[in-house]
Amino acid sequence: MTEKEAYPSPWFYFQGARFCSPVDPRGLEQVESFEVRDDDVFVSAYPKSGTTWTQQIVSLVTAGSNFSEVSKIPVTNRVPWLETEDVHSGPEAPPTISLLNDSPSPRLMKTHLNYSMLPKQAREGKGKIVYCARNPKDVAVSLYNMVQMNDLLPPLSWEETVEEFLSGPPMNSWWTAIPEYWRHKDNNNLLFIKYEDMKKDLRGHVMKIAEFLGRNLTEEQIDEVTANCTFTAMKGNQATNVSRDPVMGEKMFKRGKENGIEFVRKGKVGDWRNWFSQEQLEKFEAFHREKMAGTDLTFDDEE
Ligand code: A3P
Repeated sequence: MTEKEAYPSPWFYFQGARFCSPVDPRGLEQVESFEVRDDDVFVSAYPKSGTTWTQQIVSLVTAGSNFSEVSKIPVTNRVPWLETEDVHSGPEAPPTISLLNDSPSPRLMKTHLNYSMLPKQAREGKGKIVYCARNPKDVAVSLYNMVQMNDLLPPLSWEETVEEFLSGPPMNSWWTAIPEYWRHKDNNNLLFIKYEDMKKDLRGHVMKIAEFLGRNLTEEQIDEVTANCTFTAMKGNQATNVSRDPVMGEKMFKRGKENGIEFVRKGKVGDWRNWFSQEQLEKFEAFHREKMAGTDLTFDDEE
């Protein structure tokens, strides 16, 4: 049996977009009509773009105190993933969204959904959305490494990953998702940030996110939040480096253990230089230029 046959295809489609476990079709059905509260915060990002990093910042900024203690709670509990089954439950796991209906405020939630698939009330301006985007070449590299560590995903070679990234279903494309959120960057309830800018100025982004969420933090609190959100702090923390979490590690990251790849992996801008062949790069960049023509959204892709 080849390695691929050992991992049966986990994909399913919903409204033209492709998903796989732990995304839950029952949860997806409920997203559009999800009742949003004024103090809800959605952390949204294309996969591998700094979602967990943004979850950690949003969670600590809203925690107000005891940052190091809060940091020890799995980030997947503090900021659960809206459209999945509850990753902390056993085989009969309910959809996270039905648990969120009964959760106390303020609720923090993560999502990888396109803007057009967000709850209707969030699109109408209720609650707040912090969106983090990252340059697509580093996203592709991070995605490839994720596939090598995640037991739920069928293995793909680097070559296949690049092809898939460029020619997968349009609803799942980086070039659909990111320009769509960018078009909404001036919405009152949306903050658009970039991974590369966070790398340059983490403290400044902690302040920016705190201000957007209406949280007044002292200089000391900002320092403390920042210290818990650095790459080193998040790599060493099993609550944020989720492949080290005993439950999640066992449930979906056994392959990562074998391959020596962790969820909080390298955290660099420009790692793509170690992966792309000249031919792949030319094809990828030509595709990017064509798709981004007419937008004013650009990314730094070097540190
Ligand atoms: P790499 O694989 O390039 O290292 P997501 O949370 O959306 O899945 O994104 C994961 C990416 O964010 C990984 O990128 C991970 O290392 C990086 N990351 C997580 N925490 C980070 C931090 N504090 N600083 C920089 N990068 C971080």
